[in-house]
Amino acid sequence: MDNKNTNGNDLEAAKQLQIINELKIGFDQEYEKTGQRKTYHIETFGCQMNSRDSEKISGILKQIGYEETESENADFVLYNTCTVRENANNRVYGRLGFLGTLKKNHPGMLIALCGCMMQEASAVEKIKNSYRFVDIIFGTHNIFKLAELLQIRLDSKRMVIDLWKDTDMIVESLPSERKCSFKAGVNIMFGCNNFCSYCIVPYVRGRERSRNAEDILEEIRKLAKDGVIEVMLLGQNVNSYGKNLATPMTFAKLLTEIEKIDGIERIRFMTSHPKDLSDELIEVLKGSKKICRHLHLPIQSGSTRLLALMNRRYTKESYLTLVDKLKAAVPDISLTTDIIVGFPGETEEDFLDTMDVVKKVGYDCAFTFIYSKRTGTPAATMENQVEEPVALERFDRLLKEIHLSSAKSAGKDEHTIAKVLVEEVNTQDPTLLTGRLSNNFLVHFPGDVKLIGTIVEVYLAESKGFYYMGCLPK
Ligand code: SAH
Ligand code: SF4
Ligand code: F3S
Repeated sequence: MDNKNTNGNDLEAAKQLQIINELKIGFDQEYEKTGQRKTYHIETFGCQMNSRDSEKISGILKQIGYEETESENADFVLYNTCTVRENANNRVYGRLGFLGTLKKNHPGMLIALCGCMMQEASAVEKIKNSYRFVDIIFGTHNIFKLAELLQIRLDSKRMVIDLWKDTDMIVESLPSERKCSFKAGVNIMFGCNNFCSYCIVPYVRGRERSRNAEDILEEIRKLAKDGVIEVMLLGQNVNSYGKNLATPMTFAKLLTEIEKIDGIERIRFMTSHPKDLSDELIEVLKGSKKICRHLHLPIQSGSTRLLALMNRRYTKESYLTLVDKLKAAVPDISLTTDIIVGFPGETEEDFLDTMDVVKKVGYDCAFTFIYSKRTGTPAATMENQVEEPVALERFDRLLKEIHLSSAKSAGKDEHTIAKVLVEEVNTQDPTLLTGRLSNNFLVHFPGDVKLIGTIVEVYLAESKGFYYMGCLPK
C-alpha cells in the first residue's frame, strides 16, 4: 500500500486551501458588516458520483463562509449536471430558464454549472449562446478548483469557463461535507475505461483512475471515528479497482482491508461490472460479516448478440453462470440490475432473451431505461435504431416481468428478526421509523428517534412487497 499521492497533487491542494482562506477573510468581513452569511444551493442530477461530488463542492463553499439553503433563490446556485440520457440534459435546460428569472430579481446572484454535461462541447456552446447569465462553468475533473474559479469570477465579472478533457490528478485533503452522519459514500476510483457502445460516461468522466488504497482506508478510518457505520464504495466499475495503481491491488483485497476497520458495520459498493467480478471477490463476499447481502449487477441486455454490440464483454450464459456462483456462495444475496430496452438493432428475439434472464435470475429490483442516443458514442451511428413505439411496448412488458420477479422474491424474510440500520423518521407517517436491511429492503416500524443512525434488530411482521412493516422484538 504505497503509491503515496504525487507531490503535484499535494501542491495543488495547498494552493486551493490558500485561496479558500483568502476568500474566507473577505466573506467573514462582510458577515461582520451585514450580520448575514451568503447562501448557496446545489441541485444535483444523476448518479451517486455526482452526489459525492456535490458534497465536495459543499465542503469548499462552507469553508469559504457560505451557508447552505434549501431555496434556489440563493446567492450562489450550482447545478451539478448529468448527461447519461437525453432527458437528463433536458431537465437542466428546463430549470435554467427559471433560474435566469430568479437571478433578475436577486442582485449579485452567481450561477455555476458543473458535472458531466459540461464535459460536452455542444452543451457548453448552447449555454454560452442562450444562457448568458451563467457565471461559472467547470467540469468533472477540476471540482477541486472551485474556490479559484469563484475568486476569478468575483475579480473579473465575466463568465469563467474552465474545462479539462481528462486528468490523471486525484487531489486529496480538501474539505468535504457529508449529508448524513452515519452513512457515507467513498470514491475508490474515478472515470471508466469500458466504453460500452451506448454510454457517454467514459467521455465525460475520463480514464479510469484508482485512489491509493491507503488514502481510502485513512478516509474510512476517519469516517468511523466520526460515527459513520456504513460506507458505500463508489466507482463506475469497482471490480477493476487497483489495476492501474503503481503497485496493483484487487478490489477483493481492498474490501478485506476495509472489513478490518473498527466501527464500520456495513459495506456496500457500486457498480459491479459482470466481466470483472472475480472468484476472489465471491470468496470475500462469502466470508464477510460486514459486506451487505446485496449486489447491483447490471446486465443491460440478455441477448449475447446485443451484448457484443454493446461492448459489454460477457454473454448471456456467462452472466447466468456468474449469478449461479454468487447464489451458491451467498444464498441470501439480493440481486438488482440495470436494463436498456431498444438498443439499436434490438429484435423481438433479443428482447425475449432479456425477459428470459429476468425470469431466471429473479431480481429484487431492476432499473430499466429506454435507449437514449448519445452523440459521440459508437451506438449513436449504428443502423436500425429502434422505433419509439416498439421500444415503449417492450419497456412495458419488461416492467411487468420485473414486477412478477420481485413479487416472487419479496417477503422471503417475513416473520424473522433482522438487523436494520435505522435511517430516518418515516416520511409518510411520523410515528414510524424507516430502516434498511442488509439486502437493501426497507422496513418501517414504531420506535424512538434516538435509534436513528444505529443498527437494531427488528421483527419483520408483514411483507408489503417492496418493504416490510415491523416492530422491535419484545
Ligand atoms: N457504470 C455503471 C453504469 C453507469 S450509467 C455500469 O456499468 O453498470 C447507469 C445506467 O444507465 C447504465 O447501467 C445503463 O443501464 C444506463 N445507460 C447508460 N447509457 C445509456 C443510454 N445511452 N441510454 C439508456 N440508458 C443508458
Ligand atoms: Fe458506462 Fe459501461 Fe463505463 Fe458503466 S461500465 S460507466 S455503462 S461505459
Ligand atoms: Fe450522469 Fe455523470 Fe453519473 S453522466 S449517471 S452523473 S457519471
